[in-house]
Amino acid sequence: MIMRKRILITRKYPPPGIQLLEKENFSLTLWQKDRPMNPNELSEMAADHDALLCTLTDSIDSHFLDQCHHLDIISQFAVGFDNIDIDSATRLGIPVGFTPDAMSEATADIAFGLMIAVARKMFFNHRTIVTGDWGYFNPTGHLGCELKNKTLGILGLGRIGKKMAKRCKGAFDMDVIYHNRNPLLEMQKNLNAKYVSFEGLLAQSDVLSVHCALTPETKHLFNRDIFKAMKSTAIFVNTSRGPVHHEKDLYQAMKSNEIWGVGLDVTDPEPMDKDNPLLFMENVCILPHIGSATKEARNQMSIMAAKNIIEFYKTGKVPTIVNPQVLSS
Ligand code: DGY
Repeated sequence: MIMRKRILITRKYPPPGIQLLEKENFSLTLWQKDRPMNPNELSEMAADHDALLCTLTDSIDSHFLDQCHHLDIISQFAVGFDNIDIDSATRLGIPVGFTPDAMSEATADIAFGLMIAVARKMFFNHRTIVTGDWGYFNPTGHLGCELKNKTLGILGLGRIGKKMAKRCKGAFDMDVIYHNRNPLLEMQKNLNAKYVSFEGLLAQSDVLSVHCALTPETKHLFNRDIFKAMKSTAIFVNTSRGPVHHEKDLYQAMKSNEIWGVGLDVTDPEPMDKDNPLLFMENVCILPHIGSATKEARNQMSIMAAKNIIEFYKTGKVPTIVNPQVLSS
């Protein structure tokens, strides 16, 4: 008798991917609670499963991987995979799938939306209605700034950064500058985007939008010294991962008027404390990590995550894989 492969599904993921897995007759264990599993629950449950469908709230660290080295595949429902110790997974020969590009449009929308919301103090002004503080039309009150012809700086001009750049160019004719590991010639042609050094990015950006991955090099990259090197009129937008900025330094930089505004879809930690002083600042807009939260993006992520598992068991290939060297060796 052929054993059905057992897949542990760590959260309630959108149905399209789960249905694909059901159709292939896998044996599925679905975690039913709204909270993520804690590390003990995760390793205990993974112990008698062959594959894992997980996401950024699951800590797939070296301890977990050493305990669960029997796993055939880990399929991550996200483009970011900083919750997974990729080196350990690779060392143990476990392929790790992920879901790139499924959420690029959705996340670029959130970065673009946050930029405008900050520029016009939208969240703060909304609160004045809720708190009953909406007074008369005020010719000099709570003035924001316009974005037309301003300079957009992108850190990490990848799939999402490019879409943010396109939106800003199209809507506001912004000049686009970017910093990456390497310059991208195609962006020079398409968007007239100019490659600059990291220092140049800090010095010239009116809006600095972060789209890089969280790695040891980018952790707390945006600290007090870096904020000091930005324009005092700049808006800082982060839709990648919270720990790329140092949150206390970010608050101090705002308090000391070293930068002008902040739009965050990611915080450190998540969830953000409801009393975090950043939440009450006039030029700050914060969202609870909803970059990919559209039906289209989440369905596509679910399908991609499922297909990574299905194809692996059918063909030995993982269509979108973080560590392809595991399969080629
Ligand atoms: C990702 O995919 O990494 C986002 O942060 C959540 O969808």
